[in-house]
Amino acid sequence: MADIFPDQARKFATLEAAARAVGERYGYEEIRTPLVEPTELFARSIGETTDIVQKEMFSFSGPGDKSLSLRPEGTAGVVRAYLEHAVYAQQPLVRYLYLGPMFRRERPQAGRRRQFHQFGIEALGSRRPAIDVETIDLLTCYLEEVGMDGWELGINSVGCNRCRPGFREELRLYLEKRREELCENCRSRLETNPLRVLDCKNPGCRKVIEKAPKPIDHLCDDCASHFEEVRALLTELAVPFTLQPLLVRGLDYYTSVVYEIYGPSLGAQDAVAGGGRYDTLVEELGGPSLGAAGFSIGLERLLLSLKGREIPAPSPPSISLYLVAVMEEAFRPNAVLLSRLRRRGFKAVMDYLNRSLKAQMREANKRRVDYVLIRGKDEMEKGVIKLKDMKTGEESLLPEGEVVEKIFME
Ligand code: HAM
Repeated sequence: MADIFPDQARKFATLEAAARAVGERYGYEEIRTPLVEPTELFARSIGETTDIVQKEMFSFSGPGDKSLSLRPEGTAGVVRAYLEHAVYAQQPLVRYLYLGPMFRRERPQAGRRRQFHQFGIEALGSRRPAIDVETIDLLTCYLEEVGMDGWELGINSVGCNRCRPGFREELRLYLEKRREELCENCRSRLETNPLRVLDCKNPGCRKVIEKAPKPIDHLCDDCASHFEEVRALLTELAVPFTLQPLLVRGLDYYTSVVYEIYGPSLGAQDAVAGGGRYDTLVEELGGPSLGAAGFSIGLERLLLSLKGREIPAPSPPSISLYLVAVMEEAFRPNAVLLSRLRRRGFKAVMDYLNRSLKAQMREANKRRVDYVLIRGKDEMEKGVIKLKDMKTGEESLLPEGEVVEKIFME
């Protein structure tokens, strides 16, 4: 565990301020959960057979001999808090942001610490592919904001509870036949967690994996169309990515889309950031069945990737907007515009819950936004968008490209 002296501490503070500023533009609000949680929570969410739970947690006995652990990651605690306080009953979609130390008993080396710091976000309440894309868009916007270049985004889909069991069995049977060629670690994973074998960097295992069945070829219709929509939206947003059929992640709660960001100065094993969708975790921990997605980025690894470069100071957003799609056809163009506005520095959100025009306007009012942008049938046909100034009530129809200019002129 490292001591962080003022020189470094200043850099951490700038990265954290940038995280809050970008988070705010995307509508994410900070949550702070305890550094300690019941060990069982991590075992149930991250997975009993994962390296994190089996080997890497700092655990100790708390009051009543209950086993407690220092948090190895943030998602489990955020979901626990969300359930314990029944937040889902008050808000159908919540967006959280968190910053803070995490603990894993790993062998320390460059970019690998036993206490490290993450910036993470979690969006709870929607299964729409646009939410996966929103998290990825936020992450890449953040990387640009802090001046990181040369990053690569790898994405994959690991399927859901419907398609994964069949795939898992097929993979296990394939690997079983070539058991002798696998490393010792993978031989034991074969029984417990065969998907993790796909991620092994051992040259012998890589050879076996080359011809192994891949999750992407075994997706059910829902997972396949979800993944297709995510890739289409990323392409529209001009966020570059590569499909990585072997990307499986080291935590078990993921369903469907997963992704990682790699930086130029880190080894091939070490991602700067990772995340994805986890549509069953909330229910598995005793809550309702609802979609969720998020990521986290390691600040130590991010600093390594920035190679000591000056980090630009972030500017917090000053103008807020709400985008209303009156019909499904308006949803995708709105999602694209939303990303542009956030990247220009506005605080902007839209609806992901298929709510009516009235309900969306009510939400915009509740959020006390400065402007609402509405795209309905008329606007779609005329190729314009309606801009409503919420202070004066004044409405104007204008081409999308002129929205930003008009707001700045007022
Ligand atoms: P993760 O991939 O385990 O995902 O960790 C995310 C990031 O934390 C890594 O990409 C890396 O930058 C950093 N990290 C992990 N371990 C260490 C370490 N020992 N030393 C330094 N940095 C490290 C998660 O933690 C998930 N909770 C992400 C997520 C959020 N998925 C959905 N929501």
